Amino acid sequence: MCGIVGYAGSRQAAPVLLDGLEKLEYRGYDSAGVCVYNEAGLNMVKAKGRLSVLRDRLEGGTALPGNVGIGHTRWATHGAPSDVNSHPHMSWTGKIAVVHNGIIENEARLRAKMYRKGATFQSETDTEVVANMVGYYYEKFGDFVQAVRETVMRLEGSFALGIQCIDHPDTIIAVKKDSPLIFGFGEGEHFIASDVPAILKYTQTVAYLEDGDMAVFDANSVTFYDSTGEEVAKKRETITWEMSAAERGGYDHFMIKEIYEQPKALKDTISPRLRDGKIDLDGVELPADYLNGLRKIYLVACGSAYYVSVLAKYIIEKTCRIPTEAVMASEFRYSDPVVDERNLVIFVSQSGETADTLAALREAKRRGAQTLAIVNVVGSAIAKAADQVIYTWAGPEIAVATTKAFTTQLAVVYMLAMQMAKTLGTMSDEEYDALVKGLEQLPYDVESVLDQKHLERCQKLASRYHAHHDAFYIGRNIDSGICLEGSLKLKEIAYLHSEAYPAGELKHGPISLIEDGTLVVALATIQDLFDKTMANIKEVKARGADVLCVTLEALEENASAISDSTIAIPAIHPMLQPSLSIIPLQLFSYYVALYRGCDVDKPRNLAKSVTVE
Ligand code: M6R
Repeated sequence: MCGIVGYAGSRQAAPVLLDGLEKLEYRGYDSAGVCVYNEAGLNMVKAKGRLSVLRDRLEGGTALPGNVGIGHTRWATHGAPSDVNSHPHMSWTGKIAVVHNGIIENEARLRAKMYRKGATFQSETDTEVVANMVGYYYEKFGDFVQAVRETVMRLEGSFALGIQCIDHPDTIIAVKKDSPLIFGFGEGEHFIASDVPAILKYTQTVAYLEDGDMAVFDANSVTFYDSTGEEVAKKRETITWEMSAAERGGYDHFMIKEIYEQPKALKDTISPRLRDGKIDLDGVELPADYLNGLRKIYLVACGSAYYVSVLAKYIIEKTCRIPTEAVMASEFRYSDPVVDERNLVIFVSQSGETADTLAALREAKRRGAQTLAIVNVVGSAIAKAADQVIYTWAGPEIAVATTKAFTTQLAVVYMLAMQMAKTLGTMSDEEYDALVKGLEQLPYDVESVLDQKHLERCQKLASRYHAHHDAFYIGRNIDSGICLEGSLKLKEIAYLHSEAYPAGELKHGPISLIEDGTLVVALATIQDLFDKTMANIKEVKARGADVLCVTLEALEENASAISDSTIAIPAIHPMLQPSLSIIPLQLFSYYVALYRGCDVDKPRNLAKSVTVE
């Protein structure tokens, strides 16, 4: 949610900032702006709308000369998207410019205080409060670093800040708490950014700032301070991603590229954890006496990561026989959960910075639970805060709608369940071996569903159904978990109203909404429950629904006898089947979105990382 960049070096800053913002647009895209210092002072250019509007206004950056600057791409929290609410924000003293990712929770109190000090405000944003505070303390102490420190110690909430001062034209100060910020080292140039792709074109050497850290830098030098104000050395890390990982390549959208990256992402996530037919999850320790003493496992997450958690409940309960519950992070944190050291709480997050998930993690720790995080972004806040972490090796996921992060999270869940079941003795050796084989084969199975035949089928069905107004996804057991994710994919990128229900639940209310032509997507991939789901299909057919059934190849004939259309996928180990069922639903949503003319990678009102609650 919001992305910031900063540059000090010998290049022209504006084009570097625009490059960086383009890579951060996934974090928010309702407006953007930059501030660059030159002989005319601190020059800000801001524009409501996509980054392309700002790019045009800046003539690709050439219209704004200067070598030091900061930039921002916004997802509005305080005040509607507009030129004036866009960042950077200037202090009323005209000396301090600020970009900010995060949310200042005590902004109303601070704003009132700044009014009393004589400040004026142009925007409705919390960020302008920060600019005015730094401006005020700069007037008071005449020291840029001290002014930032005085400000930061009074801020509540989350922030990653990039700050310029007109009297220190070569310097940028960066500081963070609960919002991500990386520092990039170049030859005679330095960078800050909310995420690695923003600066990968220029450097692969970075340092991750910790909460409370401050970086004071110009082109040639940087000094890092910790939260106590002590000077600290930061560890330099080398990013090993290829530049292409954060590029669209030949694809029209990041989403379709990432759908096609799933076999590789799965291979990268599974292979290093399989050794000699055994699972070794990065040294994660969950010994038998600990697992035997657990009264319940919780999985806590948001959005698609929550749907992975719903699936995990079925999988862990079946394999480990430990009561397991999936809870939305936004609910968990305020629910006074029954959690103590007899609970394992697992947090699932692609970004590792989702505000509700992070807060829920802190709450679980406070209550004494052991915490385990399944995270994609290395070094992210959730990865750092959890007692143990298992990374999904999906690579950078740029499209707002998750695909490869979802399937790799699911792969980690399978492996975790198997490891726990093996420790507990609740899974036979034969079953364990069959699952190991199934996992080894999984990337290839996913690849097989990404072939031309399935692609064309999904495209054809999307052309048939894209004009529908409502969709209902129904399925039983783990199929119902996949329905949740399939339905979310459709609504978030295609703006088509869609709901998901366990198939047996439909007749307890939602069936009243089924009328002539209502689209019902039915998942029927579980042999034992196939007849039950077919009965549910008959019920909605009897009320006029147009049914698309996703089923196994061997069951397609039966399914097609009562459905209007079908998509068939190969049968694999039943526990792993959801990894295949989701693929056609991803493709279907993608093509429906294209037919409806939607901006697939940047759906309205959304942002990739939800860093505010
Ligand atoms: O980064 P996280 O996995 O914590 O994000 C959680 C959700 O915001 C995310 O899954 C969201 O629902 C996606 N847009 C779904 O495609």
